[in-house]
Amino acid sequence: MKIDIKNVLGFVEKTELNQLQDKINIYHQELLNKTGNGSDYVGWVKLPSTIDSALINKIQSEAERIRKQAEVFVVIGIGGSYLGARAVIEALSSSFQSFKTGLNNPFIVFAGNNLSEDYHNELLALLDKKEYAVAVISKSGTTTEPAIAFRIIKNHLEKKYGETEAKKRIIAITDKQKGALKTMAVQEGYPTFDIPDDVGGRYSVLTPVGLLPLAVAGIDIKKLVSGAIKAETEIRKTPDLEKNQAALYAATRNILYNKGKKIEILVTYQPHLYYFTEWWKQLYGESEGKENKGIFPAGVNFTADLHSMGQYIQEGCRTIFETVLSVENSNKKIEIPFDAENLDGLNFLAGKHLHEVNKMAEIGTLIAHVDGNVPNIKISIPQLSEESLGELIYFFEFACGLSGYLLGVNPFDQPGVEAYKNNMFALLNKPGFEEQTKKIKKRL
Ligand code: PA5
Repeated sequence: MKIDIKNVLGFVEKTELNQLQDKINIYHQELLNKTGNGSDYVGWVKLPSTIDSALINKIQSEAERIRKQAEVFVVIGIGGSYLGARAVIEALSSSFQSFKTGLNNPFIVFAGNNLSEDYHNELLALLDKKEYAVAVISKSGTTTEPAIAFRIIKNHLEKKYGETEAKKRIIAITDKQKGALKTMAVQEGYPTFDIPDDVGGRYSVLTPVGLLPLAVAGIDIKKLVSGAIKAETEIRKTPDLEKNQAALYAATRNILYNKGKKIEILVTYQPHLYYFTEWWKQLYGESEGKENKGIFPAGVNFTADLHSMGQYIQEGCRTIFETVLSVENSNKKIEIPFDAENLDGLNFLAGKHLHEVNKMAEIGTLIAHVDGNVPNIKISIPQLSEESLGELIYFFEFACGLSGYLLGVNPFDQPGVEAYKNNMFALLNKPGFEEQTKKIKKRL
C-alpha cells in the first residue's frame, strides 16, 4: 500500500507536518512499548508477528469442520465483534455470493448487530430451510444485542437439531475467563476460542474474532496475516514521517482537523469495500470521538454517492477532507462493447475496460474536490486481496492509535457507549435500574 498526500499540501505546510515529528516519535514508542494512555489494550500492536501458527491451524481445521456441516454460517456479534470479519468477507467474496453457496461453501450471515424483530424473523425463516452453524462472538460476553440474538438462534438450533447436535454447531469466541458467554460455553461444552485480554473489540480482526468467520468463508487467513505482518514490520522500523505511512496519515489528518476540517470521508470506488468503510468508521469513531473532540468519520461509495453526497462534498460547508481508498487494478475484466448504432454516444469508450473508466471518475472527482477546497489523502492498494487488506487493517489500526494520542484522548476505551445502554435497561425495567427507570419514565 502507498499513501500520497500531495493533494493536501495546498492546505497543510510541510513545516506543520515536521513540527509534529517529535510528538509522533513519542507516541510511536508508547504504542510499541505499551506505555501510553490505555496501554492495557495495545496487544494488537504485536499481534500479526506473534500469532501462533498452532492457533491459525486450529482455526482452519475448525472452519473446515463447519464448512462441511453448514450451508449458512451465522456470525453473531456487534461492533468490533463482527465488522472486521464482514469487511474482509465482503471485500473478497463475490457480490452475488448468496447464489453460489451451499455445503462446503457456506454463506455468511450476521446477527446480533441490531434489534430488529423483522430482521431476526427473516433470518429464522432462512435457517428453517438451511443446514447451519453459529459463532457467537462477544469479548465482554454480556453485550445485549448479541446475547438476545444468541438466545433466539440457540433456541431455534436446539429445536431443529436437538440439544446434542446443537452443541456441535455453536462456537463461542469470548474472554478466556469472564462473562456470561464464557460461563455458558463452559457449562454447555461449546468449542471456544479466546479473545486476548489486551485486544479491544475494534482492534480484534486478527484474533479468532475475525479469523474464524473469515476461514469459514474460505478466505486465506494466512495471507491476510502476512499482509498485516508486512505493515507491522514497516511501521515498527521508524516513526520518521518520510518513511512511516501510518505516522504520515495520523499527522496529516490531525493538522487538517486543527484547521477546521472536522469531517473525514473515506471514499471508495468499489462496492466491495462498503463494509471496510464501516469497519474504519467504527475504528476511528469509537477511538477518537470523546471529550468533545474528534474527527467525524463518514463513508461514501462512489460513483453511486457522487449522485447524492457529491453535491455537498463539492459545494457544501467546507469542513470536510477526504481519504480515497484507491484500488489500482481490478481482479476481473470487462471490456465495453462497440455498438454499431451508437445511440448512447458511448463508442468513444468501446474497447476500454470498465476499471479504466472507474479510474478516470476517481481522478476527475479528486481534482474537482481539491479545487472545491476538499483536501485529499490517497491510499492505494494494488488490488483487492488478502495481503492488501491485511496490510491496510494494520496500517489503519496503528494510525488510529497515533491519531488518538495526537488528539489527547485514550483511543482504546469507549465510555460514551454506556449512556444509551443504561437508558435502554431503565426503560426495559432491568432489575437494579429501579431509580433510573423512575427518572427516565418521567421524561417520556
Ligand atoms: O470496539 C469495541 O470494543 C466495541 O465496539 C465492541 O466491539 C462492541 O461493543 C461489542 O462488544 P463485545 O464484544 O464485548 O460484545
